[in-house]
Amino acid sequence: MQVRVLTDAPASVRAGALVLPVFAGSDLTNSAKTIDSALDGAVADVLGSGEISGKPFELSLVHAKGQSYSRVLLVGLGDPEKFEPYLLARYAGAAVRYLGRRKVTDIAFVLPEAVKGSETAAASFVAEGAITGTIDTTIYQNEPDRTIAVEQVAILAGDLDRTALERGAARGQILGEAVNAARRMALTPANEMTPTHLANRARELAQDAGLEVEVLDEDRMRELGMGSLLSVAQGSDQPATMTILKYNGDPSSKETLALVGKGITFDSGGISIKPAEKMHEMKYDMSGAAGVIAAMSAIGKLRPKINVIGLAPASENLPGPRATKPGDIFRAMNGKTIEVINTDAEGRLILADGLCYANKLGATKIVDAATLTGACVIALGHAASAAMGNDEPFMQQFLAAAKPTGERYWQMPLYDDYSTAVRSEIADLSNSAGRAAGTLTAGAFLKAFVDKTPWIHLDVAGTAYLDNESAWQAKGPTGTPVRAFVALAETLAGSDGKVSSNGATATAKAAAGA
Ligand code: BES
Ligand code: MN
Ligand code: ZN
Repeated sequence: MQVRVLTDAPASVRAGALVLPVFAGSDLTNSAKTIDSALDGAVADVLGSGEISGKPFELSLVHAKGQSYSRVLLVGLGDPEKFEPYLLARYAGAAVRYLGRRKVTDIAFVLPEAVKGSETAAASFVAEGAITGTIDTTIYQNEPDRTIAVEQVAILAGDLDRTALERGAARGQILGEAVNAARRMALTPANEMTPTHLANRARELAQDAGLEVEVLDEDRMRELGMGSLLSVAQGSDQPATMTILKYNGDPSSKETLALVGKGITFDSGGISIKPAEKMHEMKYDMSGAAGVIAAMSAIGKLRPKINVIGLAPASENLPGPRATKPGDIFRAMNGKTIEVINTDAEGRLILADGLCYANKLGATKIVDAATLTGACVIALGHAASAAMGNDEPFMQQFLAAAKPTGERYWQMPLYDDYSTAVRSEIADLSNSAGRAAGTLTAGAFLKAFVDKTPWIHLDVAGTAYLDNESAWQAKGPTGTPVRAFVALAETLAGSDGKVSSNGATATAKAAAGA
């Protein structure tokens, strides 16, 4: 899909549908007034009748006879005081999903007047949301029952800064495509999405984005001493892979950001086998790795001035004749020994070697993302990912970069108590400390493999995929943490300030006057 910026007046644009924002309790915007008079007051009628009140992503369709556009879709944007630019991604996503299911192929968006001054961010969110809105999860059906027909999307410039809008639309398309790439990888069933397949997808995306790529095989991992990662793979016929993607955006700098993602392509639990009920969802257990690979592809295309490496350690976790038995002990790349108490705590085992390798490659900052613990879903539900780390300034930098993206991260503590809890009687570490603070003991385990490098661990177990669809998003994989990863790279590169692509600038007050 291509997202264009048009200077046409809303009233004369040719489109299958024109999309207008509606804020709760506010008057019609100026452009809505023009449309309303062309339609003999039909828009005001819908609002006056109480059919739509502007609640977030409430939708109402008005047919437009005799106009250059065939329909007008009103989309609620909620309380103007609570407006944030990322809501425009949901505004666009909701419109694309609603209209696309009704066979509309081209749509034009009117932006709220409040985005004046943050056009780049606004257009980026609209493009991102329109593109992520086109994905639906019925692609394996012979006659997919939820295809989204939208092919052409336009943003109407009005009296906004066209150049800034175009810059934003270009960025948003790259980001939206990356989010979708991560979602498609996660959606791919485990019989197809093996560690080798994941590495091959990474190779394809790397080629497309001009990244360096290397895939370590098991022999190479053995030479490097990655006994922790290899222990997880030994129950499966599928060999483990470790994919490394490199982006050199600032050759003069010694700083390198490393992104590390958990790539368990299927988590049965191993010998400590999981109950059957939700086991099929464990095809999504590679969402962290998919997020890293997809974010790297966006970073390669956006070219921020920073060096970034992406690492995707990948394995299946299956019970088999050679599988790890509870009580087995393995040695990770940094020499630390690990007693495997529970083979279902496998994510931390593959990440341990991934984190060691990030350090070995010269990372000066590390962020990992993983669908790591069920405890995280108990703590935060599906509303936020957990964030924890070893360096408060870096954490604050990350949280500030991630916030405007709409992905939510909530900081949790890594007290020494949790590190004490993951000590083993017989080895350096135990991979499981039981139920208490399960998300944080998992974080404390990882901390033992990052040395002194500033590091953040993101547990995305509750946010990487969702059971329910929403107006703007299909159910299934969400693409978390791609948006936050890309925003962090841009923030560290300092490339977001001048174009405010993270959108922090549009104020609530301004929105009220939209
Ligand atoms: N992949 C799971 C965590 C998970 C559970 C993600 C539910 C998404 C939804 C992880 O490998 C796991 O099994 N963790 C165990 C750790 C425990 C054995 C210490 C868990 O959370 O039960
Ligand atoms: Mn597990
Ligand atoms: Zn897992």
